[in-house]
Amino acid sequence: MTTVAETVDPPERNDLAPQRRLRIPVPSLVVLVGASGAGKSTFARRWFPDSSILSSDALRAELGRGEADQRVSRRAFEILHRDLAARLERRELTIVDATNIEPHARRALLARRPTPDRAGGEPTFEPIRAIAIVLDVAAAGVHARNAARPGRVVPADVVDRQLAALRQSATDEHLRAEGFDAIHRLIDPAAIDGVALAVTAGERLDVIHEPVLPAPLGQV
Ligand code: UTP
Ligand code: MG
Repeated sequence: MTTVAETVDPPERNDLAPQRRLRIPVPSLVVLVGASGAGKSTFARRWFPDSSILSSDALRAELGRGEADQRVSRRAFEILHRDLAARLERRELTIVDATNIEPHARRALLARRPTPDRAGGEPTFEPIRAIAIVLDVAAAGVHARNAARPGRVVPADVVDRQLAALRQSATDEHLRAEGFDAIHRLIDPAAIDGVALAVTAGERLDVIHEPVLPAPLGQV
């Protein structure tokens, strides 16, 4: 089976890159969804500048004893949500790097978007699009990456629960109902390595030909 990124975005100009293109309009709220070890942080760092990424792990490390310090998790998410609201208010492209497996976690992120005032008829500004990038990779791959990574290894039963929850409550149908405007589902490492991102602003199409970091080829 040839596995490519699946998307429910309408097909658009595809002449600029042979790979599967993920369109990211600016501004957008990009929500990464995936179990621990699925490759969310790697993907975020590869494609987006650090300044545009809000990471729950990075905040936990800053506030507590490390990325896995659950004692500071609540505070980390408070800050993440506050920073997200501020960035979206300024209409800055923002990527949220957290597992985002639970529907309530995703809904809370989407709710941070400023709401256009429609009182007078026409909305006062364009709503910010919400884009889900779901790293829906097979369990074996997720476990292998999680187990092999240096530093923080998440217990395997936790990863299994995340994978089960993802299958159940992060289907395209669920994500649409939650308010995502586009859903990109990447279902194997080759699909993840093979994407090209197109960042668009208004009518202008800017294709990022070069990712920020090279693909982690040769790894698990
Ligand atoms: P990540 O650290 O990117 O996973 O990759 P994650 O989804 O963000 O996990 P959590 O939620 O923070 O726990 C996990 C491991 O897999 C390797 C990375 O180098 C890292 O060691 N990896 C990731 C690859 O080998 N290839 C990839 O394409 C992506
Ligand atoms: Mg991570």
